[in-house]
Amino acid sequence: MSWKRKDLLGMRDLEASEITDVLDTAVSMKEIASREIKKVPTLRGKTVVNLFYESSTRTRTSFEIAGKWLSADVINFSASGSSADKGESLLDTARNIEAMSPDVVVVRHKASGAPALLARHLRCGVVNAGDGAHEHPTQALLDLLTLRRRLGSDSFRGLRVGIVGDVRHSRVARSGVKAFSAVGADVTVVGPPTLLPESLEGWPARAATDLDDVLPELDVVYLLRIQRERLGSALLPSLREYTSRYGLTAARAARLKPDTVVMHPGPMNRGVEIAAEVADGPASIITEQVANGVAVRMAVLWSLLGSGGPVA
Ligand code: CP
Repeated sequence: MSWKRKDLLGMRDLEASEITDVLDTAVSMKEIASREIKKVPTLRGKTVVNLFYESSTRTRTSFEIAGKWLSADVINFSASGSSADKGESLLDTARNIEAMSPDVVVVRHKASGAPALLARHLRCGVVNAGDGAHEHPTQALLDLLTLRRRLGSDSFRGLRVGIVGDVRHSRVARSGVKAFSAVGADVTVVGPPTLLPESLEGWPARAATDLDDVLPELDVVYLLRIQRERLGSALLPSLREYTSRYGLTAARAARLKPDTVVMHPGPMNRGVEIAAEVADGPASIITEQVANGVAVRMAVLWSLLGSGGPVA
């Protein structure tokens, strides 16, 4: 079923039924990914513009593949090499792009709220592909799809999820907490006090500062990237100390329950928040997250642009 909304700006906007609908649609999209000819005419004649003001590997590429597999025309715009270098504002850039009649703009920006600003001014749809420390809704949706497939169930009731690391600066954590709790999981955010939100008001989660205390109870360990580019030394004195207290080392991973899974949105700092052997080990479903990113982004584009008819 397609959504009634014009934009996808954050997990906080989505009703539980919309989350279920998009995940169900993503399951149909996974089938397309397994075909020899990965192309359906569903979005033929539609135009998707990827407007990326920040670096991205997974999100930008998977939106491009998603649009192309659905037969949309996909245009990639990156700030570097564009007129943004000459001082053109985000809004002016977007208005110029809109003058070329896209159907949806997928935007990543370092400023929280940039996609919402565009959504207010543009007639076409806007998808938030990550804005500052605010939200990254398609990451949360692909995480839900990955867990759903691993658990073989769409019920997450009672599942214990620990989101570990720099929660305070993380758009992945903000969207993830809302998504996991919306489907019934019990979420704990874990990290040093300087990297946890000052208040958990509005966060459907509890907080812990000792990873070793909570680790044996977790069903999902979701590690966040240490964002060296956003952190000052006052918040994190040393990476070595961070790893010794919060890194998922091989020794810590050995204390996990047998079925516990390890997730990470990427890009990983191997040897900092996650040991290489854990990232590549049997509990890791990190590569599945990336693969599911394409199906989820196909489902999001179809939910915003599709006519409500069959996917393929
Ligand atoms: N997870 C994620 O957003 O990765 P990219 O920055 O590579 O898009």
